[in-house]
Amino acid sequence: MTKLIDGKQISQDIKLELKEKVSLFKEKYGKDITLAVVLVGENPASQVYVRNKIKATELVGMKSLAFYLDENATEKEVEECVNALAKDDNVDGILVQLPLPKHLDENKILNLIPANKDVDGFLAENVGKLLLFENSTVACTPYGVLELLKRENIEIAGKNAVVIGRSNIVGKPMAMLLLRENATVTICHSKTKDLKKICKQADILVAAIGRAKFVTKDMVKKGAVVIDVGINRVDGKLYGDVDFEKVSKKTSYITPVPGGVGPMTIAMLLQNTYLLALKKAEENV
Ligand code: GUN
Repeated sequence: MTKLIDGKQISQDIKLELKEKVSLFKEKYGKDITLAVVLVGENPASQVYVRNKIKATELVGMKSLAFYLDENATEKEVEECVNALAKDDNVDGILVQLPLPKHLDENKILNLIPANKDVDGFLAENVGKLLLFENSTVACTPYGVLELLKRENIEIAGKNAVVIGRSNIVGKPMAMLLLRENATVTICHSKTKDLKKICKQADILVAAIGRAKFVTKDMVKKGAVVIDVGINRVDGKLYGDVDFEKVSKKTSYITPVPGGVGPMTIAMLLQNTYLLALKKAEENV
């Protein structure tokens, strides 16, 4: 029998725990924890994500600052907004929602965020620290996947972990986190030969490709743990990267879409914001 990993419930548990920690933080340090969110343009998916992030921030008792810039905002305008937040001592975390409109240089703008306010864990300093297994802010989605595995008491050390996808936001940091937990890690991508054979060796298979139902039953070992990071909309319906119906008959654990990895991303964003605020407050005591 496969067990469904309930990301919705686990993310709610994390948010409840955070609410308590945020309340203690405010009591101890006499200040709010503040997350600033910058959205440029009117990408409908980004608008939904940002709305949900703000709602969740407030739900755990943190303060949110939202900055909505016009689709045609100049690079200078966006830079001024991020620079002001970087300098503002009352701001603990800065999130620039991606993707940015095409005329803006994403890297240049993200690099204006100081590493100690990088709640997304996107900056080279944080990514580098993750590679060195040093304490750092870790990208929210892979951090959420690790949290799911830990809260389900799934053993990672010594296991064969296969990550399909090598994006900076998910695949690469996911592989590093699994390696840090002592898994034997393989990263697969569009040029990988014999993908099926490699996936079939996985005790833990993480799918982050962005193609609906890409992972089929014949690619999965019996008893494997399958984590589906995909969110693909096809004809108005939501699909993961895994052919859930068939694959779930073989797995020991599997995440559904929706309700698996998705809700964890926001929970870990709040966790990252809390951790950065705590570090700053402790340093200033
Ligand atoms: N766009 C899609 N996912 C993310 C995320 O995790 N962080 C940011 N900043 N933008 C995103």
